[in-house]
Amino acid sequence: MTENPEHQASYAPSAEFAAAANAGAELAELAAADRLAFWAEQADRLHWEQRWTDVLDWSGAPVARWFVGGRLNVAYNCVDRHVDDGHGEQVAIHWEGEPGDSRDITYAELRDEVSRAANYLTELGLEAGDRVAIYMPMIPEAIVAILASARLGLTHSVVFAGFSPSALRQRVDDASARLVITTDGQWRRGKAAPLKEAVDEALYANGDVPHSVEHVLVVRRTGIEVPWTDGRDLWWHETVANADPHHEPRAFDAEHPLFILYTSGTTGKPKGILHTSGGYLTQAAYTHHYVFDHKPGQDVYWCTADIGWVTGHSYIVYGPLANRATQVVYEGTPNFPDEHRHWQIVEKYGVSIYYTAPTLIRTFMKWGRQIPDAHDLSSLRVLGSVGEPINPEAWRWYRTVIGSGKTPIVDTWWQTETGAIMISPLPGVTAAKPGAAQTPLPGVSAQVVDEEGNPVVLGETEANGYLVLDQPWPSMLRGVWGDDERFRETYWARYADRGWYFAGDGARLDPDGDLWVLGRVDDVMNVSGHRISTAEVESALVGHSGVAEAAVVGATDETTGQGIVAFVILTATTENTGDALVNELKAEVSREISPIARPREIHVVPELPKTRSGKIMRRLLRDVAEGRELGDTSTLVDPSVFEQIRADKA
Ligand code: WT7
Repeated sequence: MTENPEHQASYAPSAEFAAAANAGAELAELAAADRLAFWAEQADRLHWEQRWTDVLDWSGAPVARWFVGGRLNVAYNCVDRHVDDGHGEQVAIHWEGEPGDSRDITYAELRDEVSRAANYLTELGLEAGDRVAIYMPMIPEAIVAILASARLGLTHSVVFAGFSPSALRQRVDDASARLVITTDGQWRRGKAAPLKEAVDEALYANGDVPHSVEHVLVVRRTGIEVPWTDGRDLWWHETVANADPHHEPRAFDAEHPLFILYTSGTTGKPKGILHTSGGYLTQAAYTHHYVFDHKPGQDVYWCTADIGWVTGHSYIVYGPLANRATQVVYEGTPNFPDEHRHWQIVEKYGVSIYYTAPTLIRTFMKWGRQIPDAHDLSSLRVLGSVGEPINPEAWRWYRTVIGSGKTPIVDTWWQTETGAIMISPLPGVTAAKPGAAQTPLPGVSAQVVDEEGNPVVLGETEANGYLVLDQPWPSMLRGVWGDDERFRETYWARYADRGWYFAGDGARLDPDGDLWVLGRVDDVMNVSGHRISTAEVESALVGHSGVAEAAVVGATDETTGQGIVAFVILTATTENTGDALVNELKAEVSREISPIARPREIHVVPELPKTRSGKIMRRLLRDVAEGRELGDTSTLVDPSVFEQIRADKA
């Protein structure tokens, strides 16, 4: 408690923490000595029905096969295994509902619930390889639905419950899902918002053109009225709840598809990132164990993500449960009924590991330290950050105010595509630098390189370049669902001759060789840790009859990292009604994509800056949006468009 947080460039773990840590310096040495043997050892932390013959087959690059010939059941590993080992009475989930209801679920209870759901999904005729869409808020049944799918070898596609009906429809269609699992509604700041209704809207969209969905399975959460289609729609409490709680899990190939998760790319169409079973679970469990220093049966772990994102998949469902964690799952928003909610939950359950996003930390800072200071947070011993670069100021506040000036902070860099954490300090090893993800984890290999693939040179000054992953890793994506071309083009074409994965992030190495992630170098925005493509928002805007053209950029935002700023040209017959029109356009984007994609600002402009070849110069628009002097305008067709854009902004 004596450290002065203002004046430290790095924060070494205490001797006490280091002595008891899961990971010591030897972990990196082991991995360096024999990378594949190291990963085999990590895979051995799981239960395999049949052992693999080869650790890695990279002959089909860029599609890897890890733990070739191995067979396992992912859900067995996350649930039954712990019951069989005598931990059935351990709480798996301390669930906290937004209205204040709560539920503790032990591993034995979780096994029964997952088995019931698996039995019922089987009764519905679902078979291994079929796709199931899960469109649910943060309730235990969502985790049960995910695990039941995994248990049966069904490939789940979780769609964030904040997404619009049309976003859901797009994902259901792309994966040809046979079943949608949802709820009647969801609690949001004390109100029950309909969800089943959104599913109906999605499935009847476009004049009810044929789609793949046979059934909609509905959990009753809020008790609100729902539209109902007899024969197609089924209540969870009338079906799953009455099913047999015994179910024999069957082993699947290590490369059996586990899930698809859609994420934004540089076009308007989201990419279905495909993950498989053995390698994914190995790395999710490995990273959760070492990066968070998780001790089963002792720690109380809380990841504040939503299951709709990859963080929820890897660090609420698969990683923690594979490691027999006791974890908090919270349904609602951090300020309901007031801003004390998270710290009350930490106090109530004695949370020891807390993993959240920089945008939320900055929000806590705005609310003021008197709020966390009103609570006993002494149970916390490891803090994590994910989703975007964390600014040093927020890092120090997190450590000082939330971590009583002593907890290690792990700034974890990874992506939907990487499946699990790739670059992060190890809490008992690394002297952490505020703002830096620092070091590839043992077993992971990354580089910062220039356009040609030459490593940036460490010198007196910092070296900037592109972040690449130059060796395959177990939890890597195995493809983009239904679009092999896009998979190769997006990630592997840039450094094709070297066989490297291009992450889409800029990074720099400091003179100590520590890695700092700088953010996306493509047309992808990061708003509150959510990945949103400029193209998607543009396409929602031009979907409005009054808009002829739209250009969207991410502008630096103090709280959300980036904010969405749109520039639109109206059609000749559209009248500019000022705020009324702007609000209508913002609402249109919320409706089309999700409230998370709602632009912070929309400017109606007469012209957009374009190159001679017709490409919108987003870089210049970003300068305008951030109020900077204009950069190079030499390739611009008509530099005077900026006078007009600026005049409008003012
Ligand atoms: C993008 C991936 C990883 C789960 C949540 C987001 C950015 C993520 C960090 C970090 C700097 C980060 C990157 C990355 N990002 N973590 N610790 N430091 N940037 O997953 O939606 O797939 O987004 O988030 O730009 O490419 P995602």
